[in-house]
Amino acid sequence: MAIWTPSLHGRSGTRATALVEALRDDIASGLLKPGDRLPPQRQLADVVGLAPQTVMRAYAEAARRGYVRGEVGRGTFVCPARDPREPRRDATLARPDAGPIDFSQNLPLPGEAGPALAQALVDLARAGACPAYLDHQRPESAPAHREAAAGWMSGLGLAADARQVVLTQGAQQGLMATLMALLKPGDVLLTEALSYAPIQGLARHLGARVVGLAMDDEGLLPDALESACRQHRPRALYLTPTLQTPTTATMGEDRRRQLVRIARAQDLTLIEDDVFGFLPPQRPLPLAALAPERCFFVTSLSKSVAPGLRAGFVLAPPDRVPALVAAVKLASWMAPPLMMEIAARWMTDGVAAALNASQRAHAARRQAMARAALAGLDYRADPHGLHLWLHLPEPWTADAFAAQAERAGVLLRPASAFAAPGARAPSALRLCLSHEASDDRVAAGLAVVAELIGKGVVDDFVV
Ligand SMILES: Cc1ncc(COP(=O)(O)O)c(C=O)c1O
Repeated sequence: MAIWTPSLHGRSGTRATALVEALRDDIASGLLKPGDRLPPQRQLADVVGLAPQTVMRAYAEAARRGYVRGEVGRGTFVCPARDPREPRRDATLARPDAGPIDFSQNLPLPGEAGPALAQALVDLARAGACPAYLDHQRPESAPAHREAAAGWMSGLGLAADARQVVLTQGAQQGLMATLMALLKPGDVLLTEALSYAPIQGLARHLGARVVGLAMDDEGLLPDALESACRQHRPRALYLTPTLQTPTTATMGEDRRRQLVRIARAQDLTLIEDDVFGFLPPQRPLPLAALAPERCFFVTSLSKSVAPGLRAGFVLAPPDRVPALVAAVKLASWMAPPLMMEIAARWMTDGVAAALNASQRAHAARRQAMARAALAGLDYRADPHGLHLWLHLPEPWTADAFAAQAERAGVLLRPASAFAAPGARAPSALRLCLSHEASDDRVAAGLAVVAELIGKGVVDDFVV
């Protein structure tokens, strides 16, 4: 057939959405038939006068909706069967469309990066470069990958020197390696009172003690930090100043500067977890930009692009890089070179930026669904965040509510899952909106949560 030329005229919404809708309509009208091959993305971009990234986003969305599928090395084909005007309940094959609705995992919408991955694998195969990615790659080598990560971080206002970037398998290994480089048995690690739970496990394994610090709506309180420094002589402070887990708080720049002043006065090392930092279009400067001499800046592509890529990066103070590299070697020798090559290409050619923008849009859509479903309830959220923090009315306790919700088929995490040792867990829950693939399931899960709260406590669950 002649090259497919979609008509975008008169369609509202973004250009990518208009393209997806044109595709849907042309399949429904029979102009495109099952098995038809769509034009390569660049060619279609030229034909319709759009940016290649826009076409890439549209193909990704069309695949997510089940209109088309990408085949490695062959192209993108129209799917057989159902009427494409019918919304597909669960477009990602690996995801259940039955069983519990999972609001417990703080991850982005799955499946988005699939077409880009297929394309990257084809490009790599054509370039004949594959053997290099099976070789050993020392974390302190791979200058192109470290350059790419430094360039990506510069989008956050960080003047990152590639020599200070250490490549890791996701932020999780970045955090583990950072703690290994810093903590000795008996040391004290400070965290927010409610914080990313695995940090407590990691610190415990290293024989360190975790002390939680009081927070307000902006996150960690400077007074609490100052008195904890006097009382405990801590080795380091771990915190997530942007889109905090679980409370969603983003710390303003004044508060960040206050914390940095205290850290300098107390000679305290900072560990800034910035995994969510690429989601908001605007955000305050990272702590690492304010105190580069004492901050380990830990991030990854897991929340903004795809968690399975396992691409993580730590920007470390120059004198701490060797200890960090040694820790990565102890744990895994290196981050997988193939995955890092894909991540580096995406961070430099605009694919990561396009996927990040698409996750941001999905997050905003899911947050809007939550606003409608939870209207009148007491919760905190950021329009660009993947999660929200829901306070329960009395007499609910968060643990009882989570147990009851699980019985009703919805998984979420109560405050107790995030509380530092000795910290009080409020009657609140974290609800992650993005990791379920289908809007229908998210809407159903939100309805269960709202209905349960409205019903009040079921007797046998009062604790
Ligand atoms: C706050 C926070 N930090 C770090 C991580 C680890 O991320 P990654 O998947 O990049 O290892 C997560 C993942 O859930 C997280 O939520």
